Amino acid sequence: MKNAKWIKAPYDFKQAGIIFQTEIPLKKPIKKATLFTSCVGVYNAYIDGEKIGNAVLAPGWTSYNDRVQYQKYDVTDMLKNGSTLSLECGQGWALSGLSVSYSRNFYFGEVCAIASLKVEYVDGKTEHFSTNNTWDTYTSEVLFSEIYDGETQDKTVERKCVGKAEEVKIKTKLVPQIGEWIIEHERLAPIKLFTTPKGERVIDFGQNMTGYVEFKLKAKRGEKIAITHAEVLDKDGNFYNENYRMAKNLMTYVCSGNDDIFKPKHTFQGFRYIRLDEFPDIEINLDNIRAVVVHSDMEKTGDFVCGNEKINQLYHNVIWGQKSNYLDVPTDCPQRDERLGWTGDTQVFCRTGAINYNVYKFFRKWLGELRIEQHKDGGVPAIIPVVEVFGRRNGLKVSTGWGDAVCICPWEVYLAYGNKAILKENFTAMKKWVEYIRKAGNEEYLWLTGVHFGDWLAMDAGENEYMGATSNDLIASAYYAYSTSILVKTGKILGKDVSEYERLYDNIVKRFREYFIPNGQLLSDYPLTEKPPKGTDVVDVKRTGFTQTALVLILHFNLCEEKDRAKFADMLVKMIEDNGMRMTTGFLGTPYILHALSENGRADIAYKLLLQEKAPSWLYSVNHGATTMWEHWDSLKEDGSFWSTDMNSFNHYAYGAVYDWIFGVSVGIKPREDMPGYKAVDIAPHPSKELGFVDASINTAYGKIRVKWYYKNDTVHYEISVPQAVTANLTLPSGYKTTLSGGNYMFSE
Ligand code: BGC
Repeated sequence: MKNAKWIKAPYDFKQAGIIFQTEIPLKKPIKKATLFTSCVGVYNAYIDGEKIGNAVLAPGWTSYNDRVQYQKYDVTDMLKNGSTLSLECGQGWALSGLSVSYSRNFYFGEVCAIASLKVEYVDGKTEHFSTNNTWDTYTSEVLFSEIYDGETQDKTVERKCVGKAEEVKIKTKLVPQIGEWIIEHERLAPIKLFTTPKGERVIDFGQNMTGYVEFKLKAKRGEKIAITHAEVLDKDGNFYNENYRMAKNLMTYVCSGNDDIFKPKHTFQGFRYIRLDEFPDIEINLDNIRAVVVHSDMEKTGDFVCGNEKINQLYHNVIWGQKSNYLDVPTDCPQRDERLGWTGDTQVFCRTGAINYNVYKFFRKWLGELRIEQHKDGGVPAIIPVVEVFGRRNGLKVSTGWGDAVCICPWEVYLAYGNKAILKENFTAMKKWVEYIRKAGNEEYLWLTGVHFGDWLAMDAGENEYMGATSNDLIASAYYAYSTSILVKTGKILGKDVSEYERLYDNIVKRFREYFIPNGQLLSDYPLTEKPPKGTDVVDVKRTGFTQTALVLILHFNLCEEKDRAKFADMLVKMIEDNGMRMTTGFLGTPYILHALSENGRADIAYKLLLQEKAPSWLYSVNHGATTMWEHWDSLKEDGSFWSTDMNSFNHYAYGAVYDWIFGVSVGIKPREDMPGYKAVDIAPHPSKELGFVDASINTAYGKIRVKWYYKNDTVHYEISVPQAVTANLTLPSGYKTTLSGGNYMFSE
């Protein structure tokens, strides 16, 4: 950006929306014009009032204090002599209040913009028009804008110049766009306008989603639209948004008197319903109201359909969970006063995410933020980009299962796309994380200190508990082993000497067995850690290792001796059966429970859990009308009440991680570690009569891999397509094995 200076509004001007503008005098015919621009906040760029490009919420969400992306647009066709170039900026993630404490996270405290228009003339000369203190600052029609609280736009206010922009020096680094662009996708028509028992007018879009509502209308000058958003109705059919907590999600528009189009410029909402709190005195024309879906522009790579409509709906909910929460940063939910890059949620869903969509660029960017935010001692904050929560920034909780995202996400992305660069970029950060754990307590080979989120929202610690019953010591030590195993594999792929970490891994497993499963016995109680090092807390005072999640982690992370494996698998099955063939697992046990079963010869029980309809189960939410994944197993209870107002999102994708089992085991397609990116795959379908058939595929860099299986009476037929460059090792349920490559194959047995 040649000669471009960061600019801000004049010192005494405070408004949510700010426009920076200049005129572009062109003396000669032009060959090409390219705009480079960015903002700390969010912006829309215009030439002569026409929006440039289709990005929304640019420049996206980064660790603004350290880096901010800039975007590049070809504007050759838009530019004329004397054109006005303007940047309409708002607070966005950088300056809106974020987290439950509504903290502002950009140190400078004001919206700043930067731009450079490079004009290449026909005669070969080049000229740059760059931001500086000659640019004018104007008021915008955006009077209020916050990520959580919504936006106010008033089309009756006159745009006026409030003075020249001020040049400022800010320390953040400008980097070219790394992630995917955020753009608008589907436009959903309302399925119904109705009046609730309370007498409120509500529009249902039929799908929980992330984005915003667009209105086209002509009303009297000064008339208002005010809408609030909700994901669900309560049991009486009334509009319910208490689960948004403090986030107001209120959009207010003041009409100009002419034809108006309204939608937010600097924010978004998560919703299925809107309530019309105010509306002009005109007929409501549903044809002019659309819910616009907004997310990162990732290529859809996966497809799935089966013969069970409920599982198809579950798949639909997983996809919409991803669309709703892959908005530049992988978030927990898109609606309440969070919408944050929680690392635990991200790591559990990452494998599923990489089957459904091409998420390489998306993760490359977010992992960059993770590395920036990683503490000096290697601790990985629970939220990336870090936001302040009640005044805590650097001291933000470091939790097992959350921080491990630093190892798990690069590894999953590597398996999905086979690109070593992602491992290379993150190897040091992985190592720092493992070293952090190694030094976290007074036990080198176990992690027995710290404050963790544990098996979040599991059902086995009592009705109103957030944290499940499983010992945090056990979970933390199990994840310590898992992350170390990933570090070792990564190091070997990169040709590094990781013998020290191989030894560390062996010692962790050895100590894990001694401490948590002495003589092959699962303990229901542990001795308390003797004395925690100064300044650390011990949290594991009453938790147990005798839970489904404990067994799942022990089995899936290979932490027991081989001779005890069958015994533990049987124990897990028994616990599930004793619980009415249901899970008790939370965020950390659930993603692996079906794997732990099928890896130990119990795909039959895995299917029973998958198809279970009583809570806790995946199909419970499907039966209760879910169109996205719920945060809690019974977010909406049988009697129509809500499990809590506090932690009750209806668009939390974490439990959607089940799709990596459906695709990897039921359909049976898994990338191989020795030839990642689906260059070589294992295909091992596990057919089920309850599913009837599956037809699923993934578009890889080498072409489409597709597996179809279906029943005809008791015979299962398989149709498998493998691209030319891919080698597939097929194993059918009978044990029949063969190698397939470059063709369409049929089998039956
Ligand atoms: C979020 C979660 C997150 C958790 C930490 C919640 O408030 O919504 O999904 O991982 O806090 O336990």
